[in-house]
Amino acid sequence: MPATIGVLTGGGDCPGLNAAIRAVVKSAVLKCGYRVLGIERGFDALIQGQRPRELTLKDVRGILPQGGTILGTANRGNPFSYPVTVRGKEVRRDLSHIVVRRLRALRLRGLVVIGGDGSLSIAAELKRKGIPLVGIPKTIDNDLEATDVTFGFHSAVVTATEAIDKLHTTAESHHRAMVLEVMGRYAGWIALHAGLAGGADIILIPEIPFNMGEIAAKVRERARLRSPFSIVVVAEGARPRGGRRVVQKTAEENLGVERLGGIGAWVASEIAKRTDVETRVTVLGHLQRGGSPTMYDRILATRFGVHAVDLIARGRFGRMVCLKGRDMSSVPIERAVARMKLVPPRGELVFAGESIGISFGR
Ligand code: F6P
Repeated sequence: MPATIGVLTGGGDCPGLNAAIRAVVKSAVLKCGYRVLGIERGFDALIQGQRPRELTLKDVRGILPQGGTILGTANRGNPFSYPVTVRGKEVRRDLSHIVVRRLRALRLRGLVVIGGDGSLSIAAELKRKGIPLVGIPKTIDNDLEATDVTFGFHSAVVTATEAIDKLHTTAESHHRAMVLEVMGRYAGWIALHAGLAGGADIILIPEIPFNMGEIAAKVRERARLRSPFSIVVVAEGARPRGGRRVVQKTAEENLGVERLGGIGAWVASEIAKRTDVETRVTVLGHLQRGGSPTMYDRILATRFGVHAVDLIARGRFGRMVCLKGRDMSSVPIERAVARMKLVPPRGELVFAGESIGISFGR
């Protein structure tokens, strides 16, 4: 009987998850002779007792360019704080013992957890309970300190850049200020990269609280000079100096995780109030998470998948694969989720933007 490994995808989806699953299955089967079990909907299936399904080479054929995840995912299923209904009321319970028991029953040589900070934190807890696992980082937000890049980020930036290109032509035709709100949670990586790539005039990121007066002045100055339109890229986590982030739902209302959104509309209405430039807002939303991964993300996800299986084959459990410079590497999984990677407000990318006249509203 060949050794068996498991694989699951947890948290929000992003382009490249299928490429990573494919790489795990192909390298496990072809290089190591393992059998692979796919666990569906993150840790949810384990809690609810759904049997994993075998993933063969045939199951992963053709999925490299597909967005989403063939395994499904869930971002409400933290086994250490699982929502259950008791006497009509939703409460949280630690059901991790069920997950540990079911994983042990599968007699896996190793489990590959493909996830962002949430799923990798769960993986770090399961490691402490003795589950042999390795992590693969994914997120469009690119906010994990332990890896230079996560897959999904490049694809999201391409989508946001294309949106800016399209907004440019209509902004120029109508002499308007166009505000684009992008995702990224508490990090401004998507806004910063897409803003630079798309030639934005103003980029607002969580790491640099903005001054609305500066933004209005920049829009007015552009209206007066040769370019009577402006492109403003706002990260969903950006906030005015001394002000608060705009949330759709607080952490208490949303199972411990804030749902951000709405700052774009606020910035647009402030620009309209403070200038006589007509203003419109676009919220790019989940378009950034969908669609086919870019070439960069396909390759990164493939390298992560192969490296994860290699770690299992070498018995190096409890680690998360990462990209350091040009090389694949790995770090202890608890270190991987210890710190968020944020845009340095005085870093080279912001300096480059300011040097070519982009305002960060400070
Ligand atoms: O972490 C990825 C991300 O897309 C964030 O950029 C965004 O804030 C959040 O997930 C949206 O989550 P949901 O899919 O629950 O709306």
